[in-house]
Amino acid sequence: MALTTVPFLALFNSQPAATLRDRVCAMLRQAIANGILPAETRLPSSRLLACDLSLSRVTIEAAYSQLESEGYLSRYSGKGTFVALFPERAVRRSLPTPVPVLSARGQNIIAAGGCDDPPFPRAFAAGSPDLRAFPQRLWRRLTQQRLSAGGESLMGYGDPLGLPSLRQAVAHYLGQSRGVRCTADQVVIVTSSQQALQMIALLLCDRGDRVWLEDPGYRGAYHAFHSNGADVCTLATDEQGAIIGDDAPPRLVYLTPSHQYPTGSTLSGQRRLAWLDFARRSECWLIEDDYDSEFHYDGRPLPALQGLEERARVLYVGTFSKVLFPSLRLAYLVVPDALIEPLRRLRSLMDGHSAQLMQAVTADFIQHGHFAAHLRLMRQLYASRRNLLIDELNNKLAHRLSLFPHQGGLQLTVALRAGGERRLTQQALQHELLLPRLSPLYRQQPAQEGWMLGFSALQPAELIAAVNKLARLSY
Ligand SMILES: Cc1ncc(COP(=O)(O)O)c(C=O)c1O
Repeated sequence: MALTTVPFLALFNSQPAATLRDRVCAMLRQAIANGILPAETRLPSSRLLACDLSLSRVTIEAAYSQLESEGYLSRYSGKGTFVALFPERAVRRSLPTPVPVLSARGQNIIAAGGCDDPPFPRAFAAGSPDLRAFPQRLWRRLTQQRLSAGGESLMGYGDPLGLPSLRQAVAHYLGQSRGVRCTADQVVIVTSSQQALQMIALLLCDRGDRVWLEDPGYRGAYHAFHSNGADVCTLATDEQGAIIGDDAPPRLVYLTPSHQYPTGSTLSGQRRLAWLDFARRSECWLIEDDYDSEFHYDGRPLPALQGLEERARVLYVGTFSKVLFPSLRLAYLVVPDALIEPLRRLRSLMDGHSAQLMQAVTADFIQHGHFAAHLRLMRQLYASRRNLLIDELNNKLAHRLSLFPHQGGLQLTVALRAGGERRLTQQALQHELLLPRLSPLYRQQPAQEGWMLGFSALQPAELIAAVNKLARLSY
C-alpha cells in the first residue's frame, strides 16, 4: 500500500460545497469514485494534507472522520488512513435516493386518498367506541388464562378461515341477535370490514365490472372496489334507504341496511324484500355491511337482510371494531358455502390469518356472556350520550343545524342549514374541534353540507364543552 502523492488536490478548488470540511469530503469522494484513489490506498496524514491544502489539521481530521462514518475510509491507529476495501458501497450510497414508479393500480389507490381512522378521545371524531369504558381488567384476565392454559397452541400458524371457537361463537351470536342464517363453517374471520370488502372485490370483481354503492356512502367501500378497477356507480338513497337503480344490473351492490352510512336511515322492510328479489332476478350479490347495528337505541333494529330468506344472495359483513375495540382488528364475513374455499386460499396468500390469541380471547369473551353484558352497558351509555347531544344541539344550534335520523350508531349526522362546511371545519380545528365533513361522502352533486358528530366516546362534560365550541363558530 503506497503512500499517495496527492494527485487529487486539484479537485479541491472545483468543489462547490459550503464549508472547508465539506469541500475536503467532496474532493475525496470524487477522487474515490473516479478511481484516482483506489481501494486500500493510504492517504496522507492529516498534518500533511492540511499543509498541502493550507487548512487546519482539525478540518482534515473532521473530514476523515466523516468519510469513515460514510464507509469511504478505514482508519487504524498507528497505521494511518486508507481508502476502504469496498468504497463502491459508499459511492453507491451517495447516489440520489431512487423513487419507485407506481403502477396504474398503485396510482389509482393513492389518488383515492385512503381512509382516516378516528383519533380517540376527540370531539367530534366519528365512529369510535368509548375505550375508557372497556372492561380492561376482565380482558387481561381472559388473556392471561388463555396464555397459562397452553398458549403455545395459539402461537403457531392458524386456519385462514379463523379459530373454530370464534367462528362458532360468532355464528351463534349472529343467529340469536341479528337473525343471520348460517353455520359456523360459513363464518370467516378477517382483520377488518375493510379487508372483507377487499377480499370480496378480489374474488368477485373483474376490471370494469359494475358495482353499485349508496350515495352518500362509506368511503372505505368505494376505495375497496375502485382500487380493484371496478366501475363504481352511485345509488340514490331516501328515507327508506337505498333505491334500486334502473341502469344495467351490477355484479355487486354494497348496502348499509341497519344504519345507512352516513345518513342514518334504516332500509325499510319493503325495500329489503325488493332488494332480495332484485338480487335473485339479476344474479348479483348484495353486500350487507352491518357495522354498528348493535347500537340501536329506540327499539330493536330490523333483522339482517341476510336472514330474511333462505339462500339469499347476500354476503354479510360485521366488525368488532365498534363493539369491542378497533385495534383488536377482528371482523367477520358470512358467505355461502361456495365461497368458503376461495376465501381460505385468498387469505392464505394475503397475511395468512388473524392473530390466534386475540381470536381465542374474543371467543371466550362472547361464550362466557361478557359480550352480551358489555353490549347492554354500552347501548345504555351511548343512548344517554346521544340524547344529551340532541338536547344540546336543539338548545344551542337549532337555527344552524338540522338532524338526520338518529335511531342508532356512534355518530349523529347533521346538515348545515346555510352551508360554509369547509370554512367552519377549518375554524373549528383552530379550537381543537374535529368536525368530520359530510359533503365529501357524496359523489353526485350538489352535495349536502354538514358533519358527522361522533358522540359515543365522549363523556357528558366533554360533549357539552364541544357543543359550546360548535355554537361559538362564526356561521
Ligand atoms: C360503514 C362502515 N363499515 C365498516 C367500518 C369499519 O370497520 P373496520 O374497522 O372493521 O374496517 C366503518 C368504520 O367507521 C364504517 O363506517
